[in-house]
Amino acid sequence: MTRLVVVGSINMDLVTVAPRFPAPGETLLGERFVSVHGGKGGNQAVAAARLGAEVHMVGAVGDDAFGQPLCDALVAEGVDVKHVARIENFSSGTASITVSGGENQIVVVPGANARITPAQVSDARRVMACADAVLVQMEIPIETVEATLRLGHELHVPVILNPAPAQRLPTDWLQLTRYITPNQHELAILLGAEASEDFRSLMRRSPCPVVLTRGAEGAWFREGGEPQHQEGFHVEAVDSTGAGDTFNAALAVFLHEGLPIAVRKACAAAALSVTRLGARGGMPHPAEVDALLARQRG
Ligand code: RIB
Ligand code: NA
Repeated sequence: MTRLVVVGSINMDLVTVAPRFPAPGETLLGERFVSVHGGKGGNQAVAAARLGAEVHMVGAVGDDAFGQPLCDALVAEGVDVKHVARIENFSSGTASITVSGGENQIVVVPGANARITPAQVSDARRVMACADAVLVQMEIPIETVEATLRLGHELHVPVILNPAPAQRLPTDWLQLTRYITPNQHELAILLGAEASEDFRSLMRRSPCPVVLTRGAEGAWFREGGEPQHQEGFHVEAVDSTGAGDTFNAALAVFLHEGLPIAVRKACAAAALSVTRLGARGGMPHPAEVDALLARQRG
């Protein structure tokens, strides 16, 4: 069984489905509201657990009404929350999300996620030492991201860095990273490049291997040599929230099968995830991934 550590955010997602996105200053009547469990870290942990991995989460929630249900939801999916801190007098992370036509707009307030410390990463050293891979994103303090990359490197455990939301990182941090998994926009920001630069040339310039997501167009990957393309899988998009998280989780879970297969399965898992409302709504089990792979030779 693949064993993973996920270091990242846990949010309550407040999701409004609307006929279109409102303009600044405009009030719009929405169609539906749900509050669902999210956060890039929590989502990646749940997606990996559904795909059959043993998952240990490093994160934090507040002591508000959302904190306990957010932890309970992780436990219900089989995620170990021993390294999830409960921060007193702090709100849990929230994401206000508008969904329209399968696309989304998101405003995240980090709350307790801003308090995930490098010391929490050190505390998880024992589980990290026997992990097959570590997943980390950037909705948490940057020094905690750095601590994760450094500890993974020290322990020879591959760290997959999902650089979302995007910001520029020092080149030497990227040299500690096994794979970065940006989209085109995130890769340009990460490398401090022009937004207009071709994504293949950006991939060639990255100091570490890149798996670049292209939404419905699938993904590109490069470990050296020329970037390779994996076609996307065709599905009816209901809500793309969490597609990137599902992709990252699947990549980590299937990495031992080799990068091309892992990317193909990650594209299939991400496609399935967009077919239901909510970040975790459509996250698949392995049999669903296999069924889609059999149906579409993407
Ligand atoms: O990647 C999707 C996630 O981003 C949502 O669940 C939301 O919480 C935001 O953090
Ligand atoms: Na979804």
